[in-house]
Amino acid sequence: MTKKTLKDCPRETLTDQVVVVRVDYNLPLDPNGEVVENTRLVRTLPTIQYLVEAGAKAVLLSHLGRPGGRPDPALSLRPLAGKLEEVLGSPVDFCAATTGPLARDAVQRMERGDVLLLENTRFCPEDRGNDAAWAEEISFGSKLFINDAFGTAHRTHASTKGIADAVRAGGGEAVAGFLLEKELRFLCDAIADPEHPFVAIIGGAKISSKIDAIEALLHAVDRLLIGGAMANTFFKARGWFVGDSLVEEDRVDTARSVMDLAGDKLLLPVDVVTAPCLVSGATTRVSACNEVREGERIGDIGPQSVKSFADALGKARTVIWSGPMGVFELEPFQAGTFDVARAAASTADRGATVIVGGGDSVAAAVAAGVVDRITHISTGGSASLELLSGKELPGVAALSDR
Ligand code: 3PG
Repeated sequence: MTKKTLKDCPRETLTDQVVVVRVDYNLPLDPNGEVVENTRLVRTLPTIQYLVEAGAKAVLLSHLGRPGGRPDPALSLRPLAGKLEEVLGSPVDFCAATTGPLARDAVQRMERGDVLLLENTRFCPEDRGNDAAWAEEISFGSKLFINDAFGTAHRTHASTKGIADAVRAGGGEAVAGFLLEKELRFLCDAIADPEHPFVAIIGGAKISSKIDAIEALLHAVDRLLIGGAMANTFFKARGWFVGDSLVEEDRVDTARSVMDLAGDKLLLPVDVVTAPCLVSGATTRVSACNEVREGERIGDIGPQSVKSFADALGKARTVIWSGPMGVFELEPFQAGTFDVARAAASTADRGATVIVGGGDSVAAAVAAGVVDRITHISTGGSASLELLSGKELPGVAALSDR
């Protein structure tokens, strides 16, 4: 790691110091505003516990959703202070402001070992605008900024990049927290020095959102498995009829060039599960990929595809999985994703490194009951794809060099 991390900050140097920590508590909420899944929050505990034990004053910054630079009560971080308190097992204060006198007073009142969560950074337009003065304000004069928000490290925002610049310009340090450090270690090592065979399995709806990662991975992997609705665009590129299935018409050429480039490395589904409508309780049919009928929609990969994907995964020593194989949220279309999740977990059980990234595949691994067997569950969807694409993450680039 070329950047400084929290490991470079001995506990005794942190006692009584205000330390600002960017976390990513952008957690999925249900329509009632209840947290559906809190992996991202739990993963920040090592950093926060380290600061509490060191007697620092930990000021936490996060965004939630995309409120567009205006306060939105439905996206307040207040309930998350309670969630953090539950998992941390010690008090977490909340301040209903991010900057201004209220926030400054709250920070000033902090005592040794306190944790304070400020209000959603995206209630302020300056965050997205990477406003330098505002970034300075949210540093609260601290000499240490910790970025532990891997999920947001691909954003050039005041609370990710601007604050790191401000703290370093003031003579302080900007370092990676334990979560960010771990994410970078797993993902960078997988790309830079993977144990072979190296297999990537990419799913989800759109080629367009993953094409950069696919192209970068193609050079590194031994096998590239494509599933999910994005496979439909590949079927179309092969000249096959896909009924009413989702296809990115403007990406058919992209799919064709991936096929040319990948040659034998590419493994596409051989069969699919179709239905007239992708709804729960739909009547389904297993079809060869080139025998989809008029009025049908592809909702999942079929059993033969699962078998060939599981075979490829079974031989792997390194696996990266991003994106589900079908509409796994609906019972008739969940088998492909869940079986792939189980195959990936068995591969990890045999000692291979298996990395799962992206909200949907993580949710699938959770729903399939295998999450604890996966070597590394990444908390970053887009951030992990950008990293795998070989792009520099602005939130990481802004940290202090070793
Ligand atoms: C995410 O969930 O991907 C991160 O929190 C980043 O959120 P954003 O896409 O709204 O910037």
